[in-house]
Amino acid sequence: MIEEAAKLLARSRFAIAFTGAGISAESGVPTFRGFNGLWKKHRPEELATPEAFRRDPHLVWEFYRWRMDLIRKARPNRAHYALAELERMGILKAVITQNVDDLHREAGTRNLIELHGNIFRVRCTSCSYRENLKESGRLEEFLAGKKLPKCPRCDSLLRPDVVWFGEPLPRKALDEAFRLAERADLVLVIGTSGVVYPAAYVPQIVKETGGKVVEINPEESGITPIADVFLRCPAGKAMEMLMSRIKGLIE
Ligand code: APR
Ligand code: ZN
Repeated sequence: MIEEAAKLLARSRFAIAFTGAGISAESGVPTFRGFNGLWKKHRPEELATPEAFRRDPHLVWEFYRWRMDLIRKARPNRAHYALAELERMGILKAVITQNVDDLHREAGTRNLIELHGNIFRVRCTSCSYRENLKESGRLEEFLAGKKLPKCPRCDSLLRPDVVWFGEPLPRKALDEAFRLAERADLVLVIGTSGVVYPAAYVPQIVKETGGKVVEINPEESGITPIADVFLRCPAGKAMEMLMSRIKGLIE
């Protein structure tokens, strides 16, 4: 299986990766639908929605501050680094991620499409104010705050700049992802349950336009039925094995 996946990747002309929470599991970031994804017994659907934010912004902000703090301490793992290396080798053309954790960027991936936003960004609920807390150097101060965060421009409530259930995805990112998927002759799908749309169309488009689907996941997912090769394995180990085979093939 690994050999087959390595051959497909080494021979591909335009490969892309499509990732979900599972690729960051080994970095210590809990997935959404796994047991560890629960926070104070709340399901993500009860926290990551516009309705939840309207009902109880304190609870939602408490959840996001907790997640921001956890994620800022996380480091990319060998699967993130392997994807960045595949891009430098010219094999991988882009990483399309549903993750908001910034770990692909930290690992060195350059062509990164974030379909669900980024947890280090906040935006105003009234005006067009946006801020990347990592870049502005205000993350510490922000996390230490207990009150609801307010917009420095208009004093309205700030919200995380991520996509919640029932919200549309950022237009530019989604268009770019679909364009890449139509062009790709292979998609490497890593660590996603593949049940959240429209993101989950990405591997389906690759398949429908004649491309190969290589999946890495310790469990079966919504993508497994269309996978040409399914590596039932955690991301770190699978990517390490895959990289050494690919290097053997192209030398
Ligand atoms: N390596 C690879 N995959 C793993 C690992 C691992 N070490 N550990 C778990 N997984 C797999 C699980 O088997 C599961 O299929 O990762 C997947 C995680 O699924 P979800 O928690 O549903 O995460 P994801 O698919 O990214 O969710 C999609 O839903 O909550 C929303 O917006 C949120 O972007 C998120 C979207
Ligand atoms: Zn504002």
